[in-house]
Amino acid sequence: MTAVHRVTVTDLQSMKERGQKITMLTSYDYSTGRIADDAGIPILLVGDSLGMVVLGYESTLPVTVDDMIRHGAAVVRGAPRAHVVIDMPFGSYQGGWQDAMRNAIRIMQETGAGSVKLEGGQRSAEIVRHHVAAGIPVMGHIGLTPQSVNTFGGWRMQGKTPRDGVRLMADAQSLEEAGAYAIVLETVPAALGAKITQQLRVPTIGIGAGPYCDGQVQVVHDLLGLFQDFKPKHARRFIDAAGLFRDAFTEYRDGVEAGTFPSEAESHLLDRKMRDRIESTSIPDNAALETVIDDTPGGAPLEDGYASQRTTTNPRNANRRDDGREGDTRG
Ligand code: KIV
Repeated sequence: MTAVHRVTVTDLQSMKERGQKITMLTSYDYSTGRIADDAGIPILLVGDSLGMVVLGYESTLPVTVDDMIRHGAAVVRGAPRAHVVIDMPFGSYQGGWQDAMRNAIRIMQETGAGSVKLEGGQRSAEIVRHHVAAGIPVMGHIGLTPQSVNTFGGWRMQGKTPRDGVRLMADAQSLEEAGAYAIVLETVPAALGAKITQQLRVPTIGIGAGPYCDGQVQVVHDLLGLFQDFKPKHARRFIDAAGLFRDAFTEYRDGVEAGTFPSEAESHLLDRKMRDRIESTSIPDNAALETVIDDTPGGAPLEDGYASQRTTTNPRNANRRDDGREGDTRG
């Protein structure tokens, strides 16, 4: 059996050197992580954007380290090939490098991720340096950094003036010098994205930073058209998943209301003999149920769903096998 290769930070560096564009996508759960991994996305970001698109907060500020660990571990379980990078949430690295390191170590140990991401340029360089020295790869993030939305006074493009542009170039430089393996550039003019990309040895990953970055990142709920509150200018809805979901939910509700769901094929059926027996028996209590079952020679004619009632009387567990694993249902 050949081992699956998980994308490493050195693979990403080689991609920049080869001029191969890098695709990054956010992911917050096992199933989406698995699909994105199957699609060959090389970097999955468990972004603190999950606070907005999954948890419904107005900003990313309320997200906690525990939130990131829970979602991060799920993505790592779903994605065996992608490099998984996890955002350090607001408050987890602003209290000095030792505190930041403790949180980063927890995130790495409890999720199995390949790296962490944190926001800020020169102000975060010292933390990046300590993390990298301790063996924790760090992705930087500058430009419109959502954790600073209150300082920016809203979701505003950064780097619009020569002075701000130069400051962002210095931010990128200081992160590279501190050892960041890649840098996200968010909502900056395309020309500035190009300039910083040219200047750096490490890859830049843009979101609203134009086409000249080494890679691009999108929030998966934007890309799928699932997030309905607003559409950032930089986002492209590659499908209308909200529409598809809505249609499926409506069809499901219609099916339940019309009695066409579940069908016979979606139900667990007994053979005729047992069905007749059950239909002619009233089951007032568990004792009577035991009588019906014990009366059955060897228990053989019982189908799974009914036989399992030997071990449980909870109807929700009717498909649970004796080994404790679910049958062919999840519910
Ligand atoms: O949290 C996030 O999704 C991000 C991306 C926007 C880069 O940081």
